[in-house]
Amino acid sequence: SWIGPALAIVAYLVGSISFALLIARRKGIDLYGEGSGNPGATNVGRVIGKKEGRAVLLLDALKGALPYGAAVLVLGRDDVWTAVCGVAAVVGHCLPVWHRFRGGKGAATAAGVMLVAQPIAGVAAVVGYLVLKRVTRRASVGSLVGAVIGAAIVVALEGARSTVGTMTIAVAVVVWLRHADNLVRLARGEEPPS
Ligand code: G3P
Repeated sequence: SWIGPALAIVAYLVGSISFALLIARRKGIDLYGEGSGNPGATNVGRVIGKKEGRAVLLLDALKGALPYGAAVLVLGRDDVWTAVCGVAAVVGHCLPVWHRFRGGKGAATAAGVMLVAQPIAGVAAVVGYLVLKRVTRRASVGSLVGAVIGAAIVVALEGARSTVGTMTIAVAVVVWLRHADNLVRLARGEEPPS
């Protein structure tokens, strides 16, 4: 049926809405040229303000949770297209059609998808993010570890070859790929505190 592909396109288009860039534009700030240069919640918190950063975190999570949740309701949790919707929302955040494909690193949107897909894993991922961010004082470490915790718990509960397992692994891989610059800085001990 055409419904799965249509929902996946919608998920990608919704994921492509960069709340970080929208808020920054409203304040007359070019996020690409400030802080880490990343159009994400962390950099909004860094460059604009904590309150704004938290708002972007929430909205970026919702743009994953809502289209993915809609696909769960329409197609069911174990439909392949539902999994494609989850990945598509995260890819939209990373490569947004509305912003010349210059997007963020996907962590908040991944959290939104994981919270709906498997709440235990989603909550563990968020807690892992918060703890690692606080302990290391680097949001990037929180995102990287949180993504792995989420995927690992889904795999433990449902297996890597389950629909949600495969989706969560794919989402974690996207998050890691988008943190390539952070990984290089972390390996060199040059990642600045968030
Ligand atoms: O999710 C983004 C965060 O993990 C890192 O952001 O701006 O510190 O590179 P930033």
